[in-house]
Amino acid sequence: MATTTPVFPLLLLLLLLLSAAAASPSPYLSPTTLFQNYQNMLTNFKIFIYAPAKPFTFQNPVASLFYNSLLKSPFNTQDPNEAHLFFVPFSPDTSTRSLARLVRNFRVKHPYWNRTLGADHFFLSPAGIDYSADRNVLELKKNSVQISVFPVISGNFIPHKDITLPPLNPSASVISAAPENASTMSFLGYLKWDGETESNFAEELKKDADFLVDIERDSLDQVGNIQTSKFCLLFYGGDVAWMMEAMALGCVPVVIVDRPIQDLPLMDVLRWSDLSLLVSTRGGAKRLKEVLNSVSEEEYGGMKRMASAASKHLVWNEEPQPLDAFHMVIYQLWLRRHTIRYARRESV
Ligand SMILES: *[C@@H]1O[C@H](CO)[C@@H](O)[C@H](O)[C@H]1NC(C)=O
Ligand SMILES: *[C@@H]1O[C@H](CO)[C@@H](O)[C@H](O)[C@H]1NC(C)=O
Repeated sequence: MATTTPVFPLLLLLLLLLSAAAASPSPYLSPTTLFQNYQNMLTNFKIFIYAPAKPFTFQNPVASLFYNSLLKSPFNTQDPNEAHLFFVPFSPDTSTRSLARLVRNFRVKHPYWNRTLGADHFFLSPAGIDYSADRNVLELKKNSVQISVFPVISGNFIPHKDITLPPLNPSASVISAAPENASTMSFLGYLKWDGETESNFAEELKKDADFLVDIERDSLDQVGNIQTSKFCLLFYGGDVAWMMEAMALGCVPVVIVDRPIQDLPLMDVLRWSDLSLLVSTRGGAKRLKEVLNSVSEEEYGGMKRMASAASKHLVWNEEPQPLDAFHMVIYQLWLRRHTIRYARRESV
């Protein structure tokens, strides 16, 4: 392996590793192995893409960006025998019946599906797929890795197997232009509200001077609003597109949701439990304030640094860049490449 590795990326990664180790606490779940595994992925990962039944596109912008990047990625191989994983492309409007036919065709025409019953296969479905009585769709659902858009409705996501795409950040360019030094913190929490999600809770926050609630879809001073707030409030299921921007600017993300969630993006990479807070709507603004105020200054400083360090992995690029959202989603696939392949046996 190491002999085929170009020297420059190795040096670069070594530097990254060192800087990651120096800047404790780390935003990563496995800071000591992440960059080495990532380098192995760059050198070795091979994905075989089945030919789609007919060309199609994704309406969802982040799914579309991921799909197009995947189709032209250097990880693709024409040789299925050297592939670690197989990608099953299908249009987001495919009916369950057509999906069943599609999987049945792969099962009959190629030897790869039967070896793992689909466990070394993955697919992209923005909303995720549901359970089905059909054996083919059920195997796809239960065994194959699903990639969908964060957040996913609860029954459509299987923890430890499925992956979500980080939200598409529309204004990444604004961030690099933003001043580095934060001005005075005037608000405990900032909510960029879509005007619909959790409206009672949002109305309550609006009345509280500790919170800044912004109902403009494209706020002119979003950067300023984020910078003058300690915490950035994200309603799970509401507008989450600004999550990366908030984190990059050092605003600690608070996900507001009433059930445990396991579909946060880069769940296998980032230490979300240490760099963000999960708060339920129960107890309203009063309870939220108690939770936010219970974070000590020291804890807060660590969370802020980690959130900011983690944000670079949530950035999408038209042309994928090292360690960006595209590569980190691919990295999560790489972590899922170990499946048991059964030798093909002729039935007696
Ligand atoms: C895979 O297994 C099914 C039975 O479950 C069989 O009908 C099919 O022919 C097998 N595919 C291949 C390529 O052998
Ligand atoms: C922030 O930076 C600006 C310009 O770079 C400077 O004028 C200002 O004094 C700085 N503010 C703080 C609080 O450091």
